[in-house]
Amino acid sequence: MDKQQATKDIYSVTGEEKLGTINLLSQEQVDKMIHQTSDAQSDWADVEVYKRAEILHAWADNLLKKQDEIAAMVSEEVGKGYSSAKKEVARTADLIRYTAEEGVRLHGEMLKGDSFKGGSANKMAMVEQDPLGVVLAISPFNYPVNLAASKIAPALIAGNAVIFKPATQGALSGQLMIEALLETDLPENVVQCVTGKGSEIGDYIVTHPEIDMITFTGSTEIGQNISQQAKMIPVVLELGGKDPAIVLEDADLELAAKNIVAGAFSYSGQRCTAIKRVLVADSVADELKEKIQKEMEGLSVGQPSEDAAVTPLINTAAADKVEGLIQDALDKGADLVVGNKRENNLIYPTLLDNVTTDMDVAWVEPFGPVLPIIRIKDEEEFVSLSNESQYGLQASIFTEDVKKAIRIGAKLDVGSVQYNAKTERGPDHFPFIGAKNSGLGSQGIRRSIESMTRDKVFILNL
Ligand code: NAP
Ligand code: G3P
Repeated sequence: MDKQQATKDIYSVTGEEKLGTINLLSQEQVDKMIHQTSDAQSDWADVEVYKRAEILHAWADNLLKKQDEIAAMVSEEVGKGYSSAKKEVARTADLIRYTAEEGVRLHGEMLKGDSFKGGSANKMAMVEQDPLGVVLAISPFNYPVNLAASKIAPALIAGNAVIFKPATQGALSGQLMIEALLETDLPENVVQCVTGKGSEIGDYIVTHPEIDMITFTGSTEIGQNISQQAKMIPVVLELGGKDPAIVLEDADLELAAKNIVAGAFSYSGQRCTAIKRVLVADSVADELKEKIQKEMEGLSVGQPSEDAAVTPLINTAAADKVEGLIQDALDKGADLVVGNKRENNLIYPTLLDNVTTDMDVAWVEPFGPVLPIIRIKDEEEFVSLSNESQYGLQASIFTEDVKKAIRIGAKLDVGSVQYNAKTERGPDHFPFIGAKNSGLGSQGIRRSIESMTRDKVFILNL
């Protein structure tokens, strides 16, 4: 008799509503699925690229047809304001279409032998981009649709098959996204969704011999674990961040305040690219603090169904972590400007001033609505304090002197520098890189496709 399938009920972030149930797959079940997908991959790679692109376009069409249903699930399941959830679905359809168009233009290159000293014109190299095989795509809770499709679409257009592991809190949204894909002409088993707790099946999937590439977005801790376990296969990791907003004394403080608040508090700060610390020239710190505080008054705080910007965090542990960071800072002498109020897992937007480097909130990624202001005396300190973080995802520099921004930006050990704007991943075709403990490898549509292929060289000796 078949064993009873283990399952897990998924509730809304407020805990009030049961949204659905997912299977907690066993290693045997996962092994069978990976084997099926591996078997399906070679035929998928033989499908003409334009047909692969057509399937991606059909997927995008289906997502838009289901936009309201998927957005409602995203909103309930991960606590994202409904309009932000709708935008995530629309953004994902755009990403998939752009990926399809990029993929049909992946032509490889031809090299002539005589361009190298002693080489012959009778020797020519034809370089193709071959798929790697089965791509394991592991996504986080905060963008359960966009950060999943941003891995699956590039993998598919390149001719790979995909094993998709969604975050458990986000799995129902991920399954709706996959349903939209499976309603296209995609051949059976080319994409399969593996549900189950990462802590229980994660290591098994990551080390499975039929996995040929891993693309992961999530915490630095899990990413490092994956990197250490994955033997001779390529890995791309997009991990945590502690993005600074660097505000120089000549900055447009109104512009800086608007961008800092939007960057720090949208989706309750649960974005890897959220602004997570303000490094500001001491001479303008008081004025900037006042402008940030005033801008924060415009933040909507409440439930996802109310379309609030600041909503309950993903779980109690996340809220406890943020509350602990706030308390640690206050105990060590930080000034509370606004916030430090909690209702269950809803943490009100909190601004701390005069934060010093002995406080955890100066260094730890909160993944929640708390923003520390650190006062800086000179350019050297801006750079040293920014680079002292274990993270290196993005940084924003606010100044009216673009040459100064370029000079300082060149010294920052981060993947991307934003000039006079908040840190953010989009637009999705831009390269998206994490330095240090923020990641490994590069994403962004073209780079994501390339990361899931390898050169195959056919040399003609005529
Ligand atoms: P997480 O706890 O690291 O989980 C990410 C994914 O990894 C989930 O699907 C999780 O499954 C899975 N996982 C857990 N343990 C695993 C294991 N041993 N092996 C393989 N997979 C495993 O991250 P999160 O809480 O979802 O997201 C928040 C973190 O991700 C933050 O640090 C944030 O900075 C980072 N993040 C980074 C980016 C970026 O682009 N750089 C974007 C978004 C988030 P379960 O859900 O079942 O545990
Ligand atoms: O944390 C997810 C990361 O991809 C952020 O995306 O566009 O909100 O900066 P975005």
